[in-house]
Amino acid sequence: MARKRDFLSVDDLAPSELLTLLDKADEFKARPEDAAERIAGRQVLLIFEKPSTRTRVSFEVAVTSMGGHAIVLRSDELQLGRGETVQDTARVLSGYADAIVLRTFGQDRLEMFAEAADVPVVNALSDFSHPCQALADLQTIREQKGALEGVAVAYLGDGNNVAHSLMFAGAKAGMEVRIASPPGYEPSAQVAERSSLIGAETGGRTTVTNVVAEAASGADVLYTDVWASMGQESESGERAEVLAHYRLDTDAVNLAKDDVIVMHCLPAHRDEEIAADVLDGPRSVVWDQAANRLHTQKALLAWLLD
Ligand code: CP
Ligand code: NVA
Repeated sequence: MARKRDFLSVDDLAPSELLTLLDKADEFKARPEDAAERIAGRQVLLIFEKPSTRTRVSFEVAVTSMGGHAIVLRSDELQLGRGETVQDTARVLSGYADAIVLRTFGQDRLEMFAEAADVPVVNALSDFSHPCQALADLQTIREQKGALEGVAVAYLGDGNNVAHSLMFAGAKAGMEVRIASPPGYEPSAQVAERSSLIGAETGGRTTVTNVVAEAASGADVLYTDVWASMGQESESGERAEVLAHYRLDTDAVNLAKDDVIVMHCLPAHRDEEIAADVLDGPRSVVWDQAANRLHTQKALLAWLLD
């Protein structure tokens, strides 16, 4: 029997698989009826060890609108919250569910869970990566720009989970991804190295800089995310100081191309990582980006469960 597929990182996908998923997401967006009954009768378990609005609701809606059944649980409702091991939990739940979607802390926890599970496991965000977000990001960029290859995305701010998945996805799609972060807040060097290696095959390019202008000048897309991710709340004050010069504001927009689009995975903090007038302004595509979570996750579920 073929080993089940998981989706723990964008790097789990070959470049062609990524593009196939994006095509499928476009199809499901244009013709939702094509997705109906695609996972009829399948049980999808969603477990959240951190809060979620978009991921949680878009997955639940995707599953039910494809004819499946979604069970959504917070980890404190499970014995997991009382110390039952990740491995035992994964093994037991594999007996009930056809796929498990997990939002958690360490990527190692997610990997242990997936290793012990007999059914596909999806990363609904870890401290390291947010691959489902990257699928919606690329669908949105392709809709707006008509292509992915050669499109320059500048991500300003914390080199976090969202940045990591954007780097992998951009490299797979032959894009130019430029990250501008303050010293000490850069993305993982391994992710930058791996993205450059992928880019050598696809024509993609990854750069990491401490200088906003180096990333933002001539960019097609400007992107940012919160300065303090879930679990880093105690560092909020310090991060706000260090990251203040990396705000996605009008100055950054003026450095980019005239037709730049502005993205944010949300939730946003107006006038912290992004200026309110930019988030709510004409260049912002954040609402389309959030809506596309539904379509890309439908494509992912069809791919994993068809
Ligand atoms: N962007 C995103 O994943 O949002 P949630 O935390 O609300 O799921
Ligand atoms: N980097 C953020 C993303 C939220 C969707 C976090 O991990 O909290």
